[in-house]
Amino acid sequence: MGERMQQVQPFDFVVFGGTGDLALRKLMPALYYREADGQMTEDSRIIGVSRTEQSADQFRQQIIEALERYIPAAERQPAVIDRFLRRIDYAAVDATQPASEGWAALNACLDQTPGKVRVFYLATSPALFGAICRSIRDAGVLTDTSRVVLEKPIGHDRASAKAVNDEVGAVFPEERIFRIDHYLGKESVQNLMVLRFGNALFEPLWNSGWVDHVQITVAETVGVEGRGDYYDRAGALRDMVQNHFVQLLCLMAMEPPGSLNEDQIRNEKIKVLRALRPIELAEIKRNTVRGQYTAGAINGKPVPGYIQELNGRRSNTETLVAIRAEVDNWRWGGVPFYLRTGKRMPTRGSEIVIQFKSIPHNVFGRDAGEVLANRLIIRLQPDEGVKLSIMTKVPGPGGLRLRSVPLNLSYAETFKDRSPDAYERLLMDVVRGNPSLFMRRDEVDAAWSWIDTIQTGWDQLDMRPEPYAAGSWGPISSALLLARDGRRWHDGDE
Ligand code: BG6
Repeated sequence: MGERMQQVQPFDFVVFGGTGDLALRKLMPALYYREADGQMTEDSRIIGVSRTEQSADQFRQQIIEALERYIPAAERQPAVIDRFLRRIDYAAVDATQPASEGWAALNACLDQTPGKVRVFYLATSPALFGAICRSIRDAGVLTDTSRVVLEKPIGHDRASAKAVNDEVGAVFPEERIFRIDHYLGKESVQNLMVLRFGNALFEPLWNSGWVDHVQITVAETVGVEGRGDYYDRAGALRDMVQNHFVQLLCLMAMEPPGSLNEDQIRNEKIKVLRALRPIELAEIKRNTVRGQYTAGAINGKPVPGYIQELNGRRSNTETLVAIRAEVDNWRWGGVPFYLRTGKRMPTRGSEIVIQFKSIPHNVFGRDAGEVLANRLIIRLQPDEGVKLSIMTKVPGPGGLRLRSVPLNLSYAETFKDRSPDAYERLLMDVVRGNPSLFMRRDEVDAAWSWIDTIQTGWDQLDMRPEPYAAGSWGPISSALLLARDGRRWHDGDE
């Protein structure tokens, strides 16, 4: 386990939806690791809230089981688990009802010391965000140091997101609203900023003069994992592109901020969002692809199709989306950004590929072989790393022969430490009151506006998802999206 870190200020961390999947699978393990690294003060507490009537001990038991399930045995330390469990409390509250009796029990769990940080984490259905915030206020548990954390999705389009933001904003000021996008907490995503702004090498080339195109792929092998009800209403565009992809694209394309100050980063990101060209109706068929997986096989194992996972219910929801996007500004004019995400793809892997332009003139002659353009691959997961392909002379006599070989940085090999989960960093940032890796309201609004144009186009054209076999890279149109431009997706390990 890592060395002892600087402690964050004392806090009470209240998780609404405390017995839900997100809380048990992601939040509690993340907090456990922060405990193990010594980041929590003695008097910091974690309080689960849900409607289930149960005791704090029963809740602790749920946490023990979650830690056993989601944390490798070698990283489960009995003494740390004991310490962690001592912080845990539980209150059964109908959080949408300020008059619910449970609020008094919750209030009794909360430390009344003035100035102590209070975090309200809403790991619930977003439909409840407004009502829960009002109840927090009306039930009298709101303090000046209270923060609220909102999980995605914030709404399902621009109008509904505005309604949620208005409701939450009526209770919490913007600087105390933390809209989480866990991709921003990923080590590799933060490293994108370090790569760009911590090295003199890349930034001069990071523009349309040198970059031919950019690809962002998030491929998953999983299906909808029992989240069919939510997923079928969302689809890949809303589930992944509206948030994670837009954020990755912003970090990739933004101008260097003056500092990492929260508003400087977010001011730069919003400029990218506003420069993102809307994909209007006439361009929808050309620049977007929707797919839905049918039964197939992944790693030799048969897997059911999407419709089968929905128990046969018919659905026009996309489980894959590919988009050719453009950023209309001086830096990126004419450089396509190809975005692609899908479930039930052949391998799990997320990466950003920056394909540079070819050299302007070949001095080597035909016999030396093709001079391939440089390519920078930022691998987000798994096996985080950075790979830069460069042309090299193949050793030996007999004339010059060239080959593209990679300069390879593997995080696992270079940094032996465990790579923390995205939530670990983000949860502590909430306590610290640092919102730089969270989405500001105007970002959510601008992202939805871009997404809405696509979704409306699909609806108007009645553009249904094309089938693709589970375990494939998607329908042929996804390959054609690039082939038309004389390019192809970077699939697999070349
Ligand atoms: C979530 C989506 O936001 O991100 C899921 O709702 C998706 O559908 C997940 O599986 C992917 O996250 P990660 O961290 O596994 O890449």
